Amino acid sequence: MLLASAVLLLGAGTARWHWRLPPDVQAPPVPADNAMSAIKVELGRRLFYDADLSANGTMACAACYEQKRGFADGNATRPGVHGEPGRRNVPGLANVAWRPVLTWGDPRVTTLEAQATIPLLGERPVEMGMKALEAELPRRLGRDACYVRMFARAFPGRMGRIDTGTVSAALAAFQRTMIALDSPWDRYRAGEMDALSPLARQGAAQFAALGCTACHGGRDLTDDRYHAVRGRDPHDEGLAEASGLASDAGRFRTPSLRNVAVTGPWLHDGTAKSLAAAIARHGAIPSEDASPALLAFLESLTDAAFLTDPRYAMPDRACGRRL
Ligand code: HEC
Repeated sequence: MLLASAVLLLGAGTARWHWRLPPDVQAPPVPADNAMSAIKVELGRRLFYDADLSANGTMACAACYEQKRGFADGNATRPGVHGEPGRRNVPGLANVAWRPVLTWGDPRVTTLEAQATIPLLGERPVEMGMKALEAELPRRLGRDACYVRMFARAFPGRMGRIDTGTVSAALAAFQRTMIALDSPWDRYRAGEMDALSPLARQGAAQFAALGCTACHGGRDLTDDRYHAVRGRDPHDEGLAEASGLASDAGRFRTPSLRNVAVTGPWLHDGTAKSLAAAIARHGAIPSEDASPALLAFLESLTDAAFLTDPRYAMPDRACGRRL
């Protein structure tokens, strides 16, 4: 009896994660030291919506990532917890598990675990402002018996420790489950010919003919590389900041166009207020190319179910405070 419950407990923490993916899509890579589990994903979801992750308890991850906006936020940039202006536009979070590099311009950030520490601890700019308050995390979250249990089950190998490492790991596990592969465009590609309107089909052809796919190619419409499509930005050096190479100034990572119709405003500084403006700002592409057909195609990249899927929504029975 005792043995049976021990096995059950163990099972809860280590059961293999079942990815629900279309048959032609391979499961994304997962770091060896952060295996997926249902309890870890659930913990990550609660943490994602918990404002206790910010210095003064006012800002959850979800403050900048709204599900109905494809987990972008509707602002050009977003001030941090102390009011310091944000620097770059919040990108959407669909299919981030497959991105080999994250953020607009730093190829050193290769895992969601590493990325999560940037808003938490970053100082350029200060976002959630926890740099000097890391010891606060176990204190705040540890007050809640439910959190303590969840950390214990999600991180048996780390003795249920509550710290920046386990918090980031749980957030990463949750974000790996944010999968949007059921847009009209996906259904069209899977052989459902009338999933796309004739106009959107025409737009898809234009998208290829105009060379957009050279950078916005593949299943997630990104090459995960860095390009200067707008020349230099006097306020932001882009990739050059991380690489130190002057030739990288103005280069930014190609954004995935998944759900792009709802993730505006667009571009790294959020200065494009419409999709047509975002396209027009690609220096080499004449603005008249933002045709109704092209826009209809971009709209067909929205996975409507992703925007309302309860698995990504704020949990109704959260351990942390309600937002
Ligand atoms: C040379 C590579 C390249 C090509 C070709 C290209 N793009 Fe882009 N695209 C980018 C990069 C890089 C950005 C981000 C630029 C920035 O923010 O400074 C971007 C941004 C965008 C955005 C805004 C996305 C967001 O989330 O902010 C849209 C929409 C877009 N491109 C559509 C297109 C379309 C349509 C075409 C073809 C007409 C095209 N792009 C061609 C690299 C490219």
